[in-house]
Parts: sequence; structure tokens; C-alpha cells
Amino acid sequence: MILFNEFKREYEAIRTEIDAALRRVLDSGWYILGKEGEAFERKFADYLGVRHCVGVANGTEAIALALRGMDIGPGDEVITTDMTAFATVTGIVQAGATPVVVDIRPEDGLLDERLIEAQITPRTKCIVPVHLYGQSCDMDAILRIARAHGLKVMEDCAQAAGTTYRDRKAGGWGDCAAYSFYPTKNLGAYGDGGAITTNDDATAERLRSLRNYGQTVRYHHDYEGINSRLDEMQAAILRVKLRHLDTWNVRRRTIAARYRAGLTAVECLTEHTYGLPNYHLFVVRAKDRTALSERLAREGVGTLIHYPVPIRRQGAYHGPCKDMPRTPTDDFADAILSLPMYPTLTDEEVDTVIRAVNHA
Ligand SMILES: Cc1ncc(COP(=O)(O)O)c(C=O)c1O
Repeated sequence: MILFNEFKREYEAIRTEIDAALRRVLDSGWYILGKEGEAFERKFADYLGVRHCVGVANGTEAIALALRGMDIGPGDEVITTDMTAFATVTGIVQAGATPVVVDIRPEDGLLDERLIEAQITPRTKCIVPVHLYGQSCDMDAILRIARAHGLKVMEDCAQAAGTTYRDRKAGGWGDCAAYSFYPTKNLGAYGDGGAITTNDDATAERLRSLRNYGQTVRYHHDYEGINSRLDEMQAAILRVKLRHLDTWNVRRRTIAARYRAGLTAVECLTEHTYGLPNYHLFVVRAKDRTALSERLAREGVGTLIHYPVPIRRQGAYHGPCKDMPRTPTDDFADAILSLPMYPTLTDEEVDTVIRAVNHA
């Protein structure tokens, strides 16, 4: 049995460090907005090469607050991709803005930046590139469009902790970036968590207030904020796990290379040479995805689909509108399958998955 995700092995490997970190928090008697959170924010900002990191409660609120921190809200349009976690648009809507989605490129699943300009209107304020599956979007191209039209860029880095684009980490290219520390993420908490990064001092200050009821000084509220804080336990866990992130991402890339070398019955997505993906997910395209996933399930290999329904076809927005013309995103959604991918996967397990996939 090869699970799609496996958490216990990782905890076993770092149990001593995690237990010590949790004990430190428990012994401190301080659980919200304290030294652990501050230390993690500093370390994560340094790791990414950005000036500020603001810890929040989850990745969805990181997106919403990042947009609000840049004064984007009701009446504004935000351009993002049709192939992403629904949470990307949940965050945009939570900020009060209107999401506008563009198609993807079928070879990599990433937002096709050539389609952005056609969607820009006088109300467009921001582009949200999603570094899907842990591979960076083409940030030079996106930033060029943003600059030409006076738009902000907010990178959705929920799946991209440690990913690089050219010589720098993803998340350091736009005006802000949003991270999720949901347990499945490459840098995952043992609960919910998130963060926003930015190089802008004023935005960071505003975000610190927005995440804490809009409070600037205790019981003085200059903004209508929310309660979205990264708690001390999760921050302490993330401090430990950040120390291992690069090693874990190297292992993920090694597993990806093994999959690429061995898989013959399915198509792997394009890996760009402009950066290093963190392989949050390993996604393939199959001719008959349903038959493959059912057979793999019978053979004890866990798989998932990221994502089976494009954003614009979700019931929450336009509903399953039959008249909508099919797009590359629809074809992609129908063909993709995510195979097991985590650092504690053994070479033998990877080979078992390869054999199971190839043996049609
Ligand atoms: C691309 C993307 N954006 C946003 C999110 C939202 O993060 P969270 O689940 O922490 O709210 C996720 C994770 O689920 C994600 O994968």
C-alpha cells in the first residue's frame, strides 16, 4: 500500500526536534503572537530573500489579506488561472474583489501569460500567478505585463515553498506573496497556517494590523481587520521544518527524476529550465485517467486529481454551464493524475508506482 500522502514517517524522522519545540512553547505560557512567531517570520523572510513575512492563520486568508494590504477590494478585478485550488479564488472573493480567470498551457498546467492582456479592463488591479504543483510561472513575462498596465502582482506560493525562479526564490518577485502551511504542503504545519511576504514596509505594517482585528495599538483599530494569526505552536513546528525544507525539496526532485526516467505509459508535464520546482505534486497526463486511477487504487497506489474541475466550471461561480466552449484547461483537467510524492517515499516505492502505471 503506497499512500498518496504520508505524515507519520516525517514526524518520526524529526520527533526529537518537534517535541522540544512544542515543549518550549508550552513552558513559555505564551501562545499567540509571541517570540516563536516573530522568529519564524524572520527566518522565513531571510530564507526567501524578502524584507517582511507576516504569519497568518491559513493560505486562503493570506491571499485575501495580501490583496487588502495592497488596497485591492470591492470593484476591483484580479486576474488568475482557471486551474488552481479553489482557495485561490476564495481568497480573492474574501478580499471583496472579482476573480477573472485565464486558461493554462497544457504542457505545464501554468497560467498562460499570453492570454492575460485580453482580460485586462479599467477595473483590473492585480495579477495572481499560481506556481502550480510547485513550478514557478514565467515571472519575467508576467511582471512585464503588470508594469505595462500599472497592475500589482501577488504570487500564490501555497504550493511553492522553496521553489526558485531564475536566481531567486518564488515569492520574491511580485509585490506580495501568499503561502499556505496546510499539512500537505512542502513546508507544512501540524494544523493550519499561512504567511504573506512583501518587500514593502508600509504594506507589511498594514498586514500586521489587518491580521489582528485591524489593531495598531492595543484596542485601537485603524482598519477593519480580521482575526488571522499564526499561533506559537505552529510557528515553532515551522521553525523546525524550515531547517529541513531544502533537503526535502532535493529529495522530491530526485523522486521526480526517477518518475520521469521510468514512466512510459503516461505523459509527464514540462519542467522549465528557468528555475527549480519544489515538486509539491507530481502530475501526469493519461489517455484514460479514470481507468488508470481505478487500477492503481486496486493495486494499492493512492492518487488524487489536482484539479478535476476548472474554476469557471465550479458551481459556486457559473455552474456546470454546458454551453461554455471547451478550453485547454478542460482537456487538462480531464487527463491529469497526481502520483504519490513526498520526501519519505523510498526508491523501491517509487519503482512500484512506476511499474504499476506502466503495466497497462
Ligand atoms: C494554490 C493554493 N492556493 C491557496 C491555498 C489555500 O491554502 P489554505 O488551505 O492554507 O487556506 C492552497 C492550499 O490548499 C493552494 O494549493
